[in-house]
Amino acid sequence: GGAVVSGALDLDLLGPRISRHVYGHFAEHLGRCIYGGFFVGEDSGIPNEGGIRLDVVEALRALDIPNLRWPGGCFADDYHWRDGIGPREKRPRMVNSHWGDVVEDNSFGTHEFMHLCELLGAEPYVSGNVGSGTPREMSEWVEYLTRGDDSPMASLRRANGRDEPWAVRFWGLGNEPWGCGGNMRAEHYADLARQFGTYARDHGTNELYRIAAGAADDDYRWTQVLMEGLGRRLGTRGPHRGHGLSVYQAVSFHYYTVPGPWEHKGSATEFETDDYYRTMVEAQRIEELLAGHAAVMDAYDPEKRVGLVLDEWGTWFDVEPGTNPGFLFQQNTLRDALVASVHFDAFHRHADRLVMANIAQTVNVLQAMLLTDGGTLVRTPSYHAFEMSKGHQDAQVLPLVLRSPAPALDVDGTPLRTFSASASAKDGRALVSLTNLDADRPVDVELDLRGAGVGTPSARILTADSLARHNTADEPDAVVPQAFSGARVEGGALRLELPAHSFVTVELPLQ
Ligand code: AHR
Repeated sequence: GGAVVSGALDLDLLGPRISRHVYGHFAEHLGRCIYGGFFVGEDSGIPNEGGIRLDVVEALRALDIPNLRWPGGCFADDYHWRDGIGPREKRPRMVNSHWGDVVEDNSFGTHEFMHLCELLGAEPYVSGNVGSGTPREMSEWVEYLTRGDDSPMASLRRANGRDEPWAVRFWGLGNEPWGCGGNMRAEHYADLARQFGTYARDHGTNELYRIAAGAADDDYRWTQVLMEGLGRRLGTRGPHRGHGLSVYQAVSFHYYTVPGPWEHKGSATEFETDDYYRTMVEAQRIEELLAGHAAVMDAYDPEKRVGLVLDEWGTWFDVEPGTNPGFLFQQNTLRDALVASVHFDAFHRHADRLVMANIAQTVNVLQAMLLTDGGTLVRTPSYHAFEMSKGHQDAQVLPLVLRSPAPALDVDGTPLRTFSASASAKDGRALVSLTNLDADRPVDVELDLRGAGVGTPSARILTADSLARHNTADEPDAVVPQAFSGARVEGGALRLELPAHSFVTVELPLQ
């Protein structure tokens, strides 16, 4: 038999709103993410609009994709936006030194990206170049994108065929400046973030939300230096009040789930139960990291006006055999979907501070939603975990408390909580997410429902006969959500038996 979990769910204690942007995405000029994944060019036989794949657009729209980060990643600090505008045949080429050392022809640039965002109905999140760019270059990019009058950059945009300015809110100040983005020390970067943040200006009614490039993993000192970099501007008194956070409004960090050492991270599809549990221990660290960065921020900003942004997260395994090691192409199994659901629960618990998160990456790279091969498109198990969770976007967190600690396994001396859950409410419905990480045993769940009556629950489950199951062009639906009849409301409690290695969502109409 499996473990028993009992607790309570309060349906009328509405907590902070879960920003829809924690379900955000990331597209870098890396491997086949942009070229082949999002963009095939206008002459392709694959149905497209302006070169953008329509099958990819349709699949991502079904996730209610809230935002898309671009053009990197490490690529962002090598990217010079002026090379990516104007007639395609005249655009200069460059070397993509970080990713496969391939030649980039700049055929996908600013206009193509903004067109993609419009097709997706997603907000753009542009990562500006701090590592090898200048404040002037960044300043002009913002002007080009967002200014309405006949300024030099607005006129250049018009000459390139776009009359109206675009709305751009999310603006990144470089990427991983401690590594590929310039190998800087925190103090040096914090000064650059202030400088570049100053010249990334608001034009007309367009207000930027500037995101300083943050820490790796548990580098809390980096976060501390960035918070100190905001200095007196964080004060609640004086002339800066209200608009005092003028240099940057958020700080980011990156965290990848890597189950082995960097030189041997392990295969995405060929793994044993022990590897799986190690992966899940790494995935669960996100809870501790969110709490750690949030605690540092609380010390400087108890009013939580500065946002925390996890603008890269996801699994990072060895590349698929026979593929370019610089392209970071990996398959995606049920294990990846469970990594995602564990992250979502942690995101919800930190909704008061976390304003955005971006899965790395959306198509054909690392923990992808979609895998393409020529004209074929496969939705991964991770895609389905995102789709099942989209009801949490902009919903309010509901307190879900367990009566005793969640069941745990010992994984090389580290406890792995095998049950994870969270809940939110929106539009007269509660959405409860429940994950059983135990590879072999089910878990019996009983949650007392308090504060409101509920109608008949409807539930879906994502699971498979094995953790390594995945979708391919031949078997695109090996892992897909199914209706789940095992959830019932009895005696004022939600009861269900979660099968081994499964993710379940339950929707409860509130009365
Ligand atoms: O997502 C792949 C890479 O991982 C990004 O370019 C970089 O920011 C991180 O190291």
